[in-house]
Amino acid sequence: MLLYRKRVFKFVIQPFTVTLSSRSEKYLFLQSNNNISVEPLTFYKTIDECRQGEAFTAKEKVNGRGKKFYIESYGCQMNFSDSEIVASILMDKGFQPSAEHRDADLVLINTCAIRDNAEQRVRHRLKEFSIMKRQKPDALVGILGCMAERLKEKLLEEEKLVDIVIGPDAYRDLPRLIEEAETGQKAVNVLLSREETYADVNPVRLNSNGVTAFITIMRGCDNMCSFCVVPFTRGRERSRNPQSIVKEARQLFEQGYREVTLLGQNVDSYHWSPRFSSKKEIHKALSAGESPGGDCTFSQLLEKVAQIHPGLRVRFSTSNPRDMTDDVLHTIARYDNICKHIHLPVQSGSSRILEKMNRGHNREWYLQRIEAIRRIIPGCGITTDIITGFCSETEEDHHETLSLMQEVNYDWAFMFHYSERPGTLAERRYEDDVPLETKKRRLNEVIALQQRLSYESNKRDIGKTFTVLAEGVSKKSERQLFGRNSQNKAVVFERKNFKPGDYVNVKVTDCTAATLAGVAE
Ligand code: 5AD
Ligand code: SF4
Repeated sequence: MLLYRKRVFKFVIQPFTVTLSSRSEKYLFLQSNNNISVEPLTFYKTIDECRQGEAFTAKEKVNGRGKKFYIESYGCQMNFSDSEIVASILMDKGFQPSAEHRDADLVLINTCAIRDNAEQRVRHRLKEFSIMKRQKPDALVGILGCMAERLKEKLLEEEKLVDIVIGPDAYRDLPRLIEEAETGQKAVNVLLSREETYADVNPVRLNSNGVTAFITIMRGCDNMCSFCVVPFTRGRERSRNPQSIVKEARQLFEQGYREVTLLGQNVDSYHWSPRFSSKKEIHKALSAGESPGGDCTFSQLLEKVAQIHPGLRVRFSTSNPRDMTDDVLHTIARYDNICKHIHLPVQSGSSRILEKMNRGHNREWYLQRIEAIRRIIPGCGITTDIITGFCSETEEDHHETLSLMQEVNYDWAFMFHYSERPGTLAERRYEDDVPLETKKRRLNEVIALQQRLSYESNKRDIGKTFTVLAEGVSKKSERQLFGRNSQNKAVVFERKNFKPGDYVNVKVTDCTAATLAGVAE
């Protein structure tokens, strides 16, 4: 069961003090064996589900023409990073961020379309904004992100809920669209691009803890997993210029940040070329025997970022089993500051279902990749994504997922039941024939198993010492700090004189399924 709770947080970021006023957090209700506890999912930040509906503002006045924008984000980490790009574009034009949508002249909602419930949440929120508009008719409401393309006509014309609709590749056009909407026209740009990477936009770090930051290294996805709407909402895969990535990471380090996470839908397929912008063109040239000539692969990019400073930790997300090479694994092993954690979504343990999902890997291939990780990077944390109840999934297929989870012994997993998405390959080809009750029952079984595996994985860490990067004050006690070890496990420990941004050696003394607790050595 997932629970929500509203709370108020304050974070200090440079150059603004940021107040996050209404953050809904997701909690996992843990029911494994004889333990019952509630754990915040925010401890696991590779998946961003926990930050749904987060809003941002700067406390201090920013120079500008005084118009205020409010932005609320849903979905994956990529969306949250995009909101930082949008904020940067707007602040360059003199807009000020606002914590309250009621105070804003421009209310933006950055949306997710990955599962139906994500869309429903956004539609509900848009109805609340339209009530606000009755009292403040001059305010503009804009919808950004993955729902934009799919629902543009419906939201603009039929339901009249929004004034601006803008897709993930069109954010540079936002100032023009605002001007258009101010004249009473409906403003739309949902064009997808083969080139846009926002390489030159310096994102405003919103709601930052000043220690960890995300850097988008690529956009879009060419994989066409049959359940997934991302290739349709975010378009073709393209990689960002490595110089701009290294520059951004270096600036963050100089500002005091100590960890960057390189983001992409499929980071292993990162490949930048000075000559070609799309992956297709690069592959065509390479298979025609052309030499790379200044190209940069993911492994080379990781190395470049790791070399900025040994005190800068590097993470990345998300990897794809079909593209993950040993070369990348050797690079991870070579650098102490590249974190020993790989998020490797499997989706299902049944090769028959994986084939229908068009994943490009089967069970054996996946297990062989896990074996390579364990061999090349001993002690590496491994997490995954799992979908239950995909089209035609039988009890036998489901049991193969459970057995694979045990075989791999995941440290953590993000688990979902299948939600059919309009326009996807699965929607066109297969019947969504597993009853909702069965999908949910299988999901509960998967969650219960993962709780046990996570708890056992954490128990094995008791007595070990880890270097933890302190990120902030623990939510449970002012006297404790929390941070992460290299394997991405959350660790809480006595605050003493330590502060966020410090590396602290912590000996683990206790744990739950979600957290390690220890003492600084
Ligand atoms: N239904 C359920 N889960 C999905 N995911 C992607 N599309 C769907 C869908 N249609 C999950 C996958 C993916 C994660 C980000 O979201 O597990 O890895
Ligand atoms: Fe979707 Fe598959 Fe691309 Fe991930 S790799 S974004 S699941 S199509």
